[in-house]
Amino acid sequence: MKNADLLKIAKTYGNPVYVYDSEKIISQFNRLTNAFKGVKRLRLNYAAKALSNISILRLMNSLGSGLDTVSIQEVQLGLMAGFKPESIIYTPNGVSLEEIEEAAKLGVQINIDNLSVLEQFGSKHPDIPVCIRINPHVMAGGNSNISVGHIDSKFGISIHQIPHLLRIVELTQMNINGIHMHTGSDILDIDVFLYASEILFETAKNFKNLDFIDFGSGFKVPYKEGDIETNVEELGKKLTDRFNTFCKEYGKELTLAFEPGKFLVSEAGYFLAKVNVVKQTTSTVFASVDSGFNHLIRPMLYGANHTIENISNPQGRERYYSVVGYICETDTFGNNRRINEISEGDILCFKNAGAYCFTMASNYNSRFRPPEVLWHNGKAILIRERESFDDLVRNQVDVKDLFTTAKEEIAVK
Ligand SMILES: Cc1ncc(COP(=O)(O)O)c(C=O)c1O
Repeated sequence: MKNADLLKIAKTYGNPVYVYDSEKIISQFNRLTNAFKGVKRLRLNYAAKALSNISILRLMNSLGSGLDTVSIQEVQLGLMAGFKPESIIYTPNGVSLEEIEEAAKLGVQINIDNLSVLEQFGSKHPDIPVCIRINPHVMAGGNSNISVGHIDSKFGISIHQIPHLLRIVELTQMNINGIHMHTGSDILDIDVFLYASEILFETAKNFKNLDFIDFGSGFKVPYKEGDIETNVEELGKKLTDRFNTFCKEYGKELTLAFEPGKFLVSEAGYFLAKVNVVKQTTSTVFASVDSGFNHLIRPMLYGANHTIENISNPQGRERYYSVVGYICETDTFGNNRRINEISEGDILCFKNAGAYCFTMASNYNSRFRPPEVLWHNGKAILIRERESFDDLVRNQVDVKDLFTTAKEEIAVK
């Protein structure tokens, strides 16, 4: 997107504001689809958690994507956005059997990641096909919080528990129609995917009625120009060959599924915030913006390095800044960043703000969550309004005379 378009959006809708470029989302979707064009049955299930605005879900649906969900609410959002139940996979972790049964009633593909629930669900609903999430014991991912396929992780059924799993399947007579893994996010090395895939193929041989194998996600995207990223084209070639060979051995054309979040929406997003204060201290120059980890927590949570540009003064002399927020705790977006000279009132643009930014936003410090704007066919479309004070207090029960009464009672005593 051009700086002028972003500045115009900030002027129209105020700041801070999130902006998403539909063209980038579409090109990423096509890029991944092309990388796996040698697979007869490919399915991309967009991971709703990355960015769950209904307009984004509708866009994904229009592209022919399926949907990967982790909560009953994400399932409901997907259905509301027009996804057919059979295009939705529900992969919860640590939720109640009741929630899984509710999702099953809605007709979505259930993916179970522990033996306790598998046994209970299989005993009660042997006719509902189930996918199982395997923990392949692979350490992968850009940060410990997003490495989820290793031996100490809470996710998935350990590959060492396959004998127990098979016993449950045999005794309950349930139908396992898919196997799944997701080892982490920000995985650069395609050998990690290929190695973990071998574990899935090995596991798959134990099940006779599979329809699909889901390889999860975790593709690393670039965070600045020239940055390293997962080579999805090379992965596409290698995994396609291996997958097609496996299908021949298995005796059935299976669906190869992925569930990308970041890959599809990260680079499409821009977060715009205004500089309130430029503060020279003895050690640095702080640029404080009208936002904080209430709107963009990834730098503080994962050490994510979002490129920050001053789009109000793109030709200005470059200087070093610490860009911080207005929250009552240390909320540093970036230290020692070389940015075109910043003045108070300038608009800073945080790149890669499409994935896990709005969806992780909160009302901390009683601030409003910002609006979301979709940039589509050269037009800005508001897809979420900025919150208001009414939104902040909507569910609070303001019991006005609660403490007046207490005061009176104390007075009487
Ligand atoms: C089960 C599952 N699938 C897919 C994803 C999406 O991962 P990414 O955003 O790295 O593509 C996640 C992310 O946490 C996940 O937990």
